[in-house]
Amino acid sequence: TEGKLQLVQKHIRAFPDFPKKGILFRDICPILKSPAALTAVTDLFEEHVRNHYQQVDLIIGLDARGFLFGPLLAQRLGVGFVLVRKKGKLPGTTVCVAYDLEYGTAEVEIQEDAVAPGQKVLIIDDLLATGGTLYAACELMKKQQAEVLGCMVVIQLKDLNGADRLKPHGVFSLLQY
Ligand code: PRP
Repeated sequence: TEGKLQLVQKHIRAFPDFPKKGILFRDICPILKSPAALTAVTDLFEEHVRNHYQQVDLIIGLDARGFLFGPLLAQRLGVGFVLVRKKGKLPGTTVCVAYDLEYGTAEVEIQEDAVAPGQKVLIIDDLLATGGTLYAACELMKKQQAEVLGCMVVIQLKDLNGADRLKPHGVFSLLQY
């Protein structure tokens, strides 16, 4: 596990002042360029799920970088993958939740028939910052009467206290900064 975490860590780059001055952007693109690092990420998530949950029905991925890791994990577990998208991208009847950004609000949505009441789901994204995005996804699951087992991210930015916002749901992160 240590070796895998080190491999993943080596494939994350930091860009100062992106997308705005004062923000240190953690870039996961090198992970995707390295089959070994991407396998390590999937291994670590799979290990966590198998050690902590008896039954998982669906993996829920967040737009956009949750889509990169979520389907790989879902395939490993032999379960389906569902997309939470930014508003306006999904056809058919959708369910929507608004959430606060630093300035203004945003909305995320899923297809109404994507998750059934009582299904046990895990939500995945690349990064937890303020927790606004994952919180909105949890709210969507609540609306659908699904049971959120937990949230999973590659990177957790500790100073922004996103995990507090997600309580009572737990967050599992591979790396913390
Ligand atoms: C980033 C990141 C998470 C979210 C975390 O996505 O990939 O989804 O922000 O921030 P939060 O914890 O403060 O909500 P971004 O908003 O850059 O959108 P993108 O994935 O479409 O680029």
